[in-house]
Amino acid sequence: RKKVTIQSLQDMKTNKTPITMITAYDYPNALACSSNSLVDMTLVGDSLAQTCLGYSSTTQLTLSEMIHHTRAVARGTTHPFLVADMPFGTYHCSLDEATKNAIRLVQDGFVEGVKMEGGSEIAGTVHKLSSVGIPVMAHVGLLPQRHVAMSGYKVQGKSLGGAKRVMKDALALQEAGAFSIVLEAIPKELGRFITERLRIPTIGIGAGPWTDGQVLVWDDVMGTWSGHKAKFVRRFGDLKKERDSAVQGYVEAVKNRTFPNANSESYTIDSAEWDRFL
Ligand code: KIV
Ligand code: NA
Repeated sequence: RKKVTIQSLQDMKTNKTPITMITAYDYPNALACSSNSLVDMTLVGDSLAQTCLGYSSTTQLTLSEMIHHTRAVARGTTHPFLVADMPFGTYHCSLDEATKNAIRLVQDGFVEGVKMEGGSEIAGTVHKLSSVGIPVMAHVGLLPQRHVAMSGYKVQGKSLGGAKRVMKDALALQEAGAFSIVLEAIPKELGRFITERLRIPTIGIGAGPWTDGQVLVWDDVMGTWSGHKAKFVRRFGDLKKERDSAVQGYVEAVKNRTFPNANSESYTIDSAEWDRFL
């Protein structure tokens, strides 16, 4: 498949072809996304803080850790458009610092676009990065990087005021130059309304069936995540069961000495050579 571009994503919105995005955190994960020609975008989400690194939230992830992972994902990525999250704290101090950090993600991390959480308060940053040629994906609704300030991971835009704010933020980010926007954990009615009002493609996660595309976390899709399962998650595989049974099978075979097999799974030396050795 030909490389996915901002233009082809835009065409998918126009043609009402659903856009597919999955997270990836390492090389094999990226290969799996690239080997399916129907995956349009690969996201190195800062959810890697929890899924790969064992942190309790995304706010603990550093830029260096993110770049370490984006480099691995980039090596396995072919046609999908490759985006990475800007970690918490890497785009709020100043426009210059945000720009430098985004350039590091592009130059050292080999990503094609960056994603940033926030509303109109970060529109200036989105504008700055877009204007120097770094494609920005916006992210509104539930903002995991602000889970402490928001007193937990809660659905956003459920009240009149909340819905208006999410809509206003989405518009401001589009005007600032974002090429696409993630809508996380908002009512389906609002997900549809924003999708119809925006020119740029909307990618939903817990935003209902009517956004231009959908994104899910790799471990949720595979069914390997044993922590909290959000209402919007559907597990498309049960790899946790497969994984646990493979570990079980291996350790049992070692314990009862049925692994490795002396013939098919072991090397041998020519018997004459062995006699001389002895
Ligand atoms: O970090 C992440 O995985 C994300 C997506 C779920 C949108 O931001
Ligand atoms: Na994220």
